[in-house]
Amino acid sequence: MQPLTYLVTGANSGIGRETARGLADAGHRVLMLCRDEAKATEARADVVDTTGNDDVEIVLCDLSVQDEIQQAAYEISQRADALDVLVNNAGLVLHEREITPDGHEYQFAVNHLAPFLLTHELLDPLREAGSQGRAARVVTVASEAHRSAGSVPDGFENQEDSYRGFKVYAQTKLYNILFTRALALRLDPGIVTANCLHPGVVGSNFGREGPWYVRWFMKIARPFLTQPDEAADTSLFLATSPEVEDDTGRYYIDREARDPSGKAQDEALAAELWRVSEEATGADSWPKPR
Ligand SMILES: NC(=O)c1ccc[n+]([C@@H]2O[C@H](COP(=O)([O-])OP(=O)(O)OC[C@H]3O[C@@H](n4cnc5c(N)ncnc54)[C@H](OP(=O)(O)O)[C@@H]3O)[C@@H](O)[C@H]2O)c1
Repeated sequence: MQPLTYLVTGANSGIGRETARGLADAGHRVLMLCRDEAKATEARADVVDTTGNDDVEIVLCDLSVQDEIQQAAYEISQRADALDVLVNNAGLVLHEREITPDGHEYQFAVNHLAPFLLTHELLDPLREAGSQGRAARVVTVASEAHRSAGSVPDGFENQEDSYRGFKVYAQTKLYNILFTRALALRLDPGIVTANCLHPGVVGSNFGREGPWYVRWFMKIARPFLTQPDEAADTSLFLATSPEVEDDTGRYYIDREARDPSGKAQDEALAAELWRVSEEATGADSWPKPR
């Protein structure tokens, strides 16, 4: 297969690192978007050493800062005219409410607004790749946790003093699915597709800043959890497989398309989230929905 250009966010750890490794192993060019230079350098060296592919680059970006996302997208467009696949993988759960420099609740900003804005800023290189005969792809790592979202807060963003970190996380994972479905309606599937997935319950670094019960679960259950290399399988499948080249707007678990929750299929909710996300990011030059 001809080498393609892939961007993986949160590529220094867990599922993202294994996704980057799988892509590099297949001989592709991989851009690893990470927020910490030392961690990124170590992860890149690991991926290069284990795959023998040195066409692996770092893009530094803190996804909680919208200016950094715009700067990173600009850098990526300068380095690659065509981007074949964007894997929106970075994500986290927090136990305490934190606010980003842009004034947003942190999980909402990193887990939802960041993929929304990054995808918008990379539409041109994605379209460029997609016009070369094989549709480009946007793959977003959501979660079965979306089923625990409960009722969505006004404005989609947690404003409460009492913060239930895992519930807020679950809401952002619901937003990943709503985003994917709404994005698929805006993109010509012959040029760019958009799908999302649940990777399993994975023994990664996930949860280390989460509520005590998430940290406890991840510690106790670790030996029984899916390992990050196995967990990257569905991300790699959606990013690379010809089997899904015509699929768009779908949610996958273990390489199978599944129905997400009823709320994740609510088109009015998706439209309202889209409007709020445009306002929160200024990313508003999308194609009209089909
Ligand atoms: N683990 C699970 O059981 C599970 C289940 C369902 C879905 N998921 C989803 O899978 C994805 C990957 O998680 P994982 O399990 O691989 O966890 P992980 O090992 O903690 O990796 C998360 C990655 O996201 C990065 N990240 C977090 N905040 C960031 C920011 N502000 N800017 C840039 N990068 C940031 C982290 O960077 P640092 O290393 O610098 O923090 C790390 O590279 C997430 O979207 C998560 O929601 C995980």
